[in-house]
Amino acid sequence: MEHKVNLIEKLDREHRLTSAEWDVLLRCDNKEVAKFAEKLARKRAKEVFGKRIYTRGLIEISNYCKNNCLYCGIRRENHRVERYRLTREQILSCAKEGYGLGFRTFVLQGGEDGTFTDEWMCQVIRELRKNFPDCAITLSIGERTRESYQLMYEAGANRYLLRHETADKNHYEILHPKEMSFEHRIECLRTLKEIGYQVGCGFMVGSPGQTPATLVKDMELITELQPEMVGIGPFVPHHATPFAEESRGTAEQTLYLLSLIRILKPDVLLPATTSLGTIDPRGREKGILAGANVLMPNLSPTAVRKQYELYDNKICTGDEAAECRNCLENRVKSIGYELAIDRGDAPSFQQRMQKLNVK
Ligand code: SAM
Ligand code: FES
Repeated sequence: MEHKVNLIEKLDREHRLTSAEWDVLLRCDNKEVAKFAEKLARKRAKEVFGKRIYTRGLIEISNYCKNNCLYCGIRRENHRVERYRLTREQILSCAKEGYGLGFRTFVLQGGEDGTFTDEWMCQVIRELRKNFPDCAITLSIGERTRESYQLMYEAGANRYLLRHETADKNHYEILHPKEMSFEHRIECLRTLKEIGYQVGCGFMVGSPGQTPATLVKDMELITELQPEMVGIGPFVPHHATPFAEESRGTAEQTLYLLSLIRILKPDVLLPATTSLGTIDPRGREKGILAGANVLMPNLSPTAVRKQYELYDNKICTGDEAAECRNCLENRVKSIGYELAIDRGDAPSFQQRMQKLNVK
């Protein structure tokens, strides 16, 4: 136990570890060590963000997807799911409702839907930018060309979430069909960063084939890429996917990893995800207490929520946006935090922009 605590203290001081040191921490399932990491991570998060939790309004714009990721409930070959795609008007109306509720970041997330041409996307982005000039626009619509990312950035998008899913090529190939490429996914993240997006990578905890060795690579990728955000949540099986019978990730491991990531990168934006709230009724509160500082409630129209079912029993699919906001407000209050009405940019990004003298 003492050696592991020493390693966590080293991570806190130096913000990096060797592969062998990561391996020791990532193999560990000692509750006392996790408790130590949790307390330190919470302290570091409070030093950077205070007791303010950033919120992002998630708009699930389409469940059409050309990909066939083995874990995902909206994969191409799941013919049981009823497909939908929001119109530009619906997206704007979700954002309008969200704005009234206090959201200052909108996340447009969806499957890789071929009808989302650059032109279509850029028009939505421009309209959102015009109507909500004080808001950040985040995209999470998968792998695209450099040109496409560039055009959407120029249209006004600020951030991009693209979980790398795993930093280990062999593991990537367990999770994805042959036509998908690990190298391309990582390349996309680097391109997004080069263009100037605030970038979020991340992975599922406990996905089939994940081992301490693959997690070491995830931590090393985060150390090297220096993303503004890291999204991690437990893998939860979906009944109509090839991984239907696999076991899900645990809340304990997710919380421990959240703490280690916070200690590794004290100013990173770290969401307590809906999947964590799905496997544990107080998962999101526990996530915040373990170092997370972001919540991403759903602003999608209730009529389509159930159709964006990435995994079984996803929570909050029946609630109106206002109910979700209230529910989260009460949840964070119950642990002594508050929801911020704020764009919630990453501190490292704000500093970079100040240096460049850009607003
Ligand atoms: N198409 C975009 C992309 O590929 O980045 C965004 C949508 S994708 C559904 C968003 C994330 O959901 C994925 O990056 C994945 O990590 C997560 N996800 C998918 N299936 C999941 C499952 N069964 N359990 C937990 N998370 C899942
Ligand atoms: Fe495309 Fe899941 S397989 S979003």
